[in-house]
Amino acid sequence: MSRKPVMLSGIKPTGELHIGNYFGAMRQLVELTRSGKYAPFIMVADYHALNSVQDAETMRAHTRELVMGYIAVGLDPKDVTLFKQSEVPEHTELAWIFDTITTMPYLMRAHAFKAAEAKGKEVSVGTFNYPMLMAADILLYDTAVVPVGADQKQHIEYARDTAEKFNRVYKTDTFKLPEPYIMEDVATVPGTDGQKMSKSYGNTIRLFATKDELAKTVMGIVTDSSGERPQNVYVIHKLIRSDAELMPLYEEHRGKYKALKDALIEDLDAFIAPMRARYEALKDDPSIVNETLLEGGRAARSVAEGKMQEVRKAVGVA
Ligand code: ADP
Ligand code: TRP
Repeated sequence: MSRKPVMLSGIKPTGELHIGNYFGAMRQLVELTRSGKYAPFIMVADYHALNSVQDAETMRAHTRELVMGYIAVGLDPKDVTLFKQSEVPEHTELAWIFDTITTMPYLMRAHAFKAAEAKGKEVSVGTFNYPMLMAADILLYDTAVVPVGADQKQHIEYARDTAEKFNRVYKTDTFKLPEPYIMEDVATVPGTDGQKMSKSYGNTIRLFATKDELAKTVMGIVTDSSGERPQNVYVIHKLIRSDAELMPLYEEHRGKYKALKDALIEDLDAFIAPMRARYEALKDDPSIVNETLLEGGRAARSVAEGKMQEVRKAVGVA
């Protein structure tokens, strides 16, 4: 058994991966798992995603996309416990117990709930309880560090509060208090229209795109014809090349957007090619993803079962 502090993060399987996901989140997370400092757990938060993904085939496809994607960009399943939340029923079991010690007003203060309500939607109970399931995800594994984007910080505070409350109510030290590790956005990657790249805006560059696809998407990048340097092209280019390398290129092709886009297509293709090859190989051989999830699920479950036995004793149902 590893004595390294546990690092755990969850990712919702919500769609096709794009280069914004890669530069904004995946790259940092994979680096952290490779740092050797932690015992890393990466969880596909499929039960969380049920709040928005409500079609079985879509859920399966997005789950595989996420697992293939993370392995393709460098996550090594031998070093990481990579598992699906739904494979470990202790998550929902513990979430229920947390529900019983949590008040409605406390959950009503959650940013995500408030944002959903502000949109005038009828919020599902699952969305309302989201922070309790996430607290269970984290606390079941004695997690020390939770790498997340800044928008998730409040959820880690909820997990800490819930751990403290449980320990206080049941006079135990069952749960360890986790610390957030905020992954700063290296930069918000712009999409082909200059807004933040996001699948909801339909402005993405697919992470594992073929060269033809890249060419089509890059040619569609909106350029501001008034300037000498196409800003939307440059900012994406800057993710894979240094300023020093780009300066002469953009100087030489001042105002020649087609040439600059061609250069970006070549560079993106070269950057993506090795990851794309791994992704395609994983697609061709589904057994790797299946094996990974099976083993990850087993490993996660054995930890979660141990913790859940403690919890059941502490609350008096065992
Ligand atoms: P989308 O906006 O396409 O739905 P998600 O919300 O699923 O993307 O994003 C998953 C992760 O990828 C988040 O941690 C987020 O910070 C990161 N991310 C998404 N889009 C970008 C972007 N344009 N620039 C930087 N990071 C991004
Ligand atoms: N709520 C996170 C998000 O939307 C995903 C998530 C679920 C998570 N469970 C987690 C993150 C546990 C860290 C730890 O991005």
